This record gives sequence, C-alpha cells and structure tokens, in this order.
Amino acid sequence: MLYSGPAFSATALDDGIVELKFDLAGESVNKLNRVAMADLAAATDAIAKDASVKAVMLTSGKPVFIVGADITEFGGIFGAGEDAVVELSMGAHKLFSAFEDLAVPTVAAINGICLGGGTELALCCDYRVMSAAAKMGLPEVKLGIFPGFGGTVRLPRVIGADNAVEWIATGAEKRPDAALKDGAVDAVVAPEQLQAAAIATLRQAMEGKLDWKARRAERLAPLKLNGTEQAMAFNSAMAVVGGKAGPNYPAPMLALKSMQKTAGLGRDEALAVEAKFFAKAAVTPQAEALIGVFLADQVVKKTSSAWAKKSKKDIKQAAVLGAGIMGGGIAYQSASKGLPIVMKDINNTALDLGMSEAGKLLSKQVEKGRTTPEEMSKTLSRIRPTLNYGDFGSVDIVIEAVVENPKVKKAVFAELEGQVSDDTIIASNTSTISITYLAEGLKRPANFVGMHFFNPVHMMPLVEVIRGEKSSDEAIAATVALTTKMGKTPIVVNDCPGFLVNRVLFPYFDGFHMLLRDGADFQAVDKVMERFGWPMGPAYLMDVVGMDTAVHAAAVMAEGFPDRMKPDYKGATQVLVENDRLGQKNGKGYYVYEKDKKGRPKKVVDPTTYDLISGVVAERREFEADEIVARCMIPMVTEIARCLEEGIVATPYEADMALLYGIGFPPFRGGACRYVDQLGIDKVIALCDKYQSLGKVYAAPKLLRDMAASGKKFFG
Ligand SMILES: NC(=O)c1ccc[n+]([C@@H]2O[C@H](COP(=O)([O-])OP(=O)(O)OC[C@H]3O[C@@H](n4cnc5c(N)ncnc54)[C@H](O)[C@@H]3O)[C@@H](O)[C@H]2O)c1
Repeated sequence: MLYSGPAFSATALDDGIVELKFDLAGESVNKLNRVAMADLAAATDAIAKDASVKAVMLTSGKPVFIVGADITEFGGIFGAGEDAVVELSMGAHKLFSAFEDLAVPTVAAINGICLGGGTELALCCDYRVMSAAAKMGLPEVKLGIFPGFGGTVRLPRVIGADNAVEWIATGAEKRPDAALKDGAVDAVVAPEQLQAAAIATLRQAMEGKLDWKARRAERLAPLKLNGTEQAMAFNSAMAVVGGKAGPNYPAPMLALKSMQKTAGLGRDEALAVEAKFFAKAAVTPQAEALIGVFLADQVVKKTSSAWAKKSKKDIKQAAVLGAGIMGGGIAYQSASKGLPIVMKDINNTALDLGMSEAGKLLSKQVEKGRTTPEEMSKTLSRIRPTLNYGDFGSVDIVIEAVVENPKVKKAVFAELEGQVSDDTIIASNTSTISITYLAEGLKRPANFVGMHFFNPVHMMPLVEVIRGEKSSDEAIAATVALTTKMGKTPIVVNDCPGFLVNRVLFPYFDGFHMLLRDGADFQAVDKVMERFGWPMGPAYLMDVVGMDTAVHAAAVMAEGFPDRMKPDYKGATQVLVENDRLGQKNGKGYYVYEKDKKGRPKKVVDPTTYDLISGVVAERREFEADEIVARCMIPMVTEIARCLEEGIVATPYEADMALLYGIGFPPFRGGACRYVDQLGIDKVIALCDKYQSLGKVYAAPKLLRDMAASGKKFFG
C-alpha cells in the first residue's frame, strides 16, 4: 500500500494505476472534514513523490461518494470574519490544486451521492465516470453560501458558463443523464461497471488515446469567452438569478459575480478571487441562519428516529374520522405512502368529496409523470370510505379530524373507544384544544395523543405530536414512527392550548390586530411582513386559514391564556366574520378573491374592507416598517421563549424547525430563536419594554431576561 490514513488510502493496482480510496474512519458517509482534508494532503503528497504512479483513480469506500464539506465545522470559522474564511478557502485551494496538479492522468469514479465539496474534488480530476445510481450537485446556495473549494472556477471551465451558472445558482442535484448531457461527467455506467470503466478511461489516457493534458490545460486557463459571450452568460443570468433569489438570499448573486470576475483569469488567480467572494457570503446572517436550519433539521431527525426506535407497535392499518379538509388530506397522505386507511364520516357527500380530492391530487401526479395510472388506482384503493365503524376493531390507530368542538370531539371519543381494541391509539388532529382536557373521561387516556397536521396536508411537512398528561411513551413513539412513515416530520411537544405552533402564531396575530386597531393599514402590514420574509402577510394568511377558523381558534387561545391572549378590544377579523367574510373559502376576507387563468384564487384589494372595519380601527396613519415588524414579531418571540421555559418544546432547534415547517417562518432568518440571537437579546428586551404597555404578549419572560443578564444566546 502506497499510503494509508484515517480517511484516504492509496493502493497500487496494475500498470502503475493507483486507487485513491476515500473511506472516512468511524463515519457512515464521506465528508470533507479537517481530518479528511489533512489526510488528502498527505495522500496526495505520497502519490506525487512516487515515480511508479502512472495514473490515479479516486474512489469511495462507502455507498456515497462524498456528501460535501463538514458543515458542523463551519460555524466557528465563519463567525471569525472574512479573513478567517479566506484563509480556510485558500487552504482548501492549495490542497485541491496539488491534487489536480499530480503529474499523471486522474479520474473520479462517482459511485453514489456526490455533493458540494465532493463535486468540487471530482472536478479536479481530468475525467469523471458516474454510476447510473449516483447523483451530483453543488447545493451550497441552500446554505447561504456557494461552492468555495474551487467549484465556481472549475465548473464553468468544464461544462461552460451557462450550465455552470444554472448548477451553482439553483443548487440542484443532477441525475446522471443531466450530468452527462451538460458534460460534467464523461460517461455514465451501471454501478457494477464503474471501476472497470474508470480504469479503462485511465488506460486510454496513459496510452495517449485521450489527451488528458489538453483537458487539464482547459481548467487551468481563463474561460474561452469573448466579451459578448461573457455579457450574455453573466449579465443576463444576473437579472434572472437576482430576481429569483431576491434580496434575502444574496449567495447566488455573489457566486455569479465571482464567476464573472474570474472568467478571464488563470486558475490560481481565479481561486484567490473566489475565496474573497466566498468569504463575503459565508459571513452573512443568512448563511448563519441557513446553516443553522440544516443543523437543526438534523437534530429533529435524530430525535424523531430515537422516538421511533422505541416503538414496539407496527402500524399496518389506520383510520381517520372525518373526511373534510384535514381528514381527506390525511387519508390521501397515508394511502400515497402505502398505508391502508379507513375514512369514516357521518355524511356521504363529505366522503365523496374526500375521495374526489384525493383523486384530483393523484391525477396531477400522473400528469406530471410522478406516478402511473395503475399506481394511482392502487393508492386510491388503499382508502376505504365508510359511514360506520364496521372495520374499526382491527385498526392500529384512529386519527380524529372532526369539527373543532370539544363537546363533539369528546362524544366521538366516547363512542370510538367502544369500537376499537384496547391497544388502538387514538390521535386527535385538533389545532388548539388541550390533549389532556380531551383525554378526560377516556377509559384509556394512555393511548390518546395529539397529531396536529397542517393544511394542506400533502404540502406541509410538519406534524406536531402532542403528549398529554397521561399519554404513554409507547403511544407517542408509535405516533412518531407513523408520522415518519407518512413522509412527514414529527416534532414531539408537550400539551397546552395551541401546542407550540398555534400558541406562538396567535400572539403574532394579536400584534397584527393591535396595529390595525391603532390605525395601521392591513395592506401595508402585509407588505412589510412579506418583505421581512413571510410567504404571506398576516391579513392574507388570515384569509387563507379562514377567518371563522382563526376567530374560533383565537377564542380557545384566549380561554387558555387569558392574561395575555384575551383582547380587551374587538379585532378587525372578528368584524369581518360577522359580515360573512370568511376568507378564501367564500371568496372574501381582508381581500376578495377572483379566479386566475389556472382557476386558482387571486387576491384583489377591496375598498369595502376598510368601511367594514372602520368601527374598530383608529384613523389610518403610517407606521415605520421597523415598528410593524417589532409589533408583530415580539409577541411571537416572547411566546416561544415561554414555550421553552415551560418545556412545551424541548430545544430551540425543534422550536425553530416547527415554525419553519409549520407556518413558513422565513428560512433565511432561521426561526424565532435564531431571530432573537441575530437581533441581539438586548435589542429584543428593549423592544419588549418599549411596547409592554400594549399588553402582556410583549412582556419579556424570565428566560429572555436571564439570557440578557448572562449574555447567553439560544445557539452557540
Ligand atoms: N382546516 C385547517 O386548516 C386545520 C388545520 C389543522 C387542524 N385542523 C383541525 O382538524 C379538524 C378538522 O378540521 P377540517 O378543517 O378538516 O374540518 P371540516 O369541517 O372540513 O371537516 C370535518 C368533517 O368531520 C365530519 N364529522 C363531523 N362529525 C363527525 C363524526 N362524529 N364522525 C365522523 N365524521 C364527522 C364532518 O361531516 C366533516 O366532513 C379540526 O379539529 C380542526 O381544528 C384544521
């Protein structure tokens, strides 16, 4: 063996061909962490010094090729400022270039997932052969950065500027056919032929049938573009990319600027420029937040898989009560993931509607080529609509999604317990009502949990799994396992009215209502909050949720937390409901809705809204954007801190991810806890104090005050 280290080994095969195998010790995947980078340097050095080496094949000893750099190591360096990041980047450049400069032909045999730094290392090779089972890409922009290990320099030289812009700015993962078409790889072969194909490529290079030196020279030279071509490739791309990414996501534009600047430079100069632009992206708050989101997502996944492992119950048959908006969605979701489900309603029309909605969703999948008509009918056959409890004796779980009324729900549970077996789990999809309260009167409260899906079920990734006072660990574990099986992300929370997500969303709505009460224009508030990053402003969101639903839920929250969520004024939304403006569902809410060309609701401003709410709002006046943001966001922030204080949610990671997945909290801000960290705890406390006269939703809880006193952050 020519070299052996903790990550890389170099072994001589026949005729001077050396296999440089990446197999990071103690890890299930290959990632470019400090250990691997240092080891790559040592392995490259050993190969360079050995005159018997005639060619190098880069392979992976794991099912993946390389998943990228180790993101957990970034935080500290990025936090240390631009110079530290430039140093990091230049270190990687030196090492990658040394590998690229080996005096022999090189090939990467890409066997599996090849992302980020992995793709950048593969680009240092003269040839790339890809398994038909692999995927390749540069997803860095999703983390608020861009490829900083030479990707923006080498990729355009390999696949052309246009293609490279698309790969880097979208961060898309490419299937083998796309990678081959763009020229990122030289061949795609069956997995079992990969090594033979890579070796054959090297042999051709060694025999002079492939001009590997010319190949390499292209990567070292400036891009072959004249002025007009450059303008076409970069300037026009900038307009498109800039427009798509928007001001909140600066990384794709920084990548493009870097590519434009480096197009006319040789490799080493170009890499130095890339390092500078990369550092600019790395120190942005957006990069910090998006990397935080990635890491928080890992925490959420680990936590739920630990829960699921505890489950002894394998859920093979589910049932849903209610075939309405939520019940129908839950049935579709379950069936589409292969789990048979009985759907019971008291109303035949509702059952028909539930089935036809599922049919519509599946037809769309067929149209898009994502499923076949045969699969569609198989999926539909997994939903069994019924008006009676006939089959309930053999179901493992019943998800209740009847109307949001505690009396109705309790009556339904009493009836249901007599129909199911002793160990059937009963899960309520209530959006606000306490699970502990709903469990009162149940014979088997240990089997009762909350399972809060979000609307529309097939689109929204989150399910809050709610532990009532008497819910057993086994019931929670089985519900978490089921949620994952249904393709959703479970987050376990403790019980209280509204659980986590709605408990923090309603104070935000309170903030909005108080702004309106004090004379703010709802359109102006929407605009500011959309600019802040929310997918829709609070008035628009209210229309989408349904004004009656929102008012009803607000009443539950007011009863649960009368000290701060019971308004002493009449809210504009309440007035609109009284005037039969229920939002999108009946075509009129804060806005009115017309159908666009595709039949989707399009919001239009309606002056009569202002007349209707005039009795409960002050004379219209301008509010600074900062004030609007603070008055909406501080109530959300104080409530999330209370939820952490009370153990409703276990960690700030889960809290932030619940808001991202549940209500579309702007990802580039990372979540409410990250928002506190980035705004600065002192500023948050100052805003709480400034607005505390408006109501207790603005009062800073002890957790925040303690953080301010000790200078602590939620993260790091
Ligand atoms: N709509 C949302 O955005 C949303 C989001 C999350 C949670 N939820 C919760 O989900 C539940 C259902 O809400 P929805 O919006 O689907 O309501 P919906 O009015 O669309 O559907 C309720 C369905 O339940 C049926 N039903 C009533 N009593 C029944 C019974 N005894 N047995 C069987 N079916 C019965 C009704 O016929 C109706 O079809 C509520 O608790 C709600 O708070 C709703």
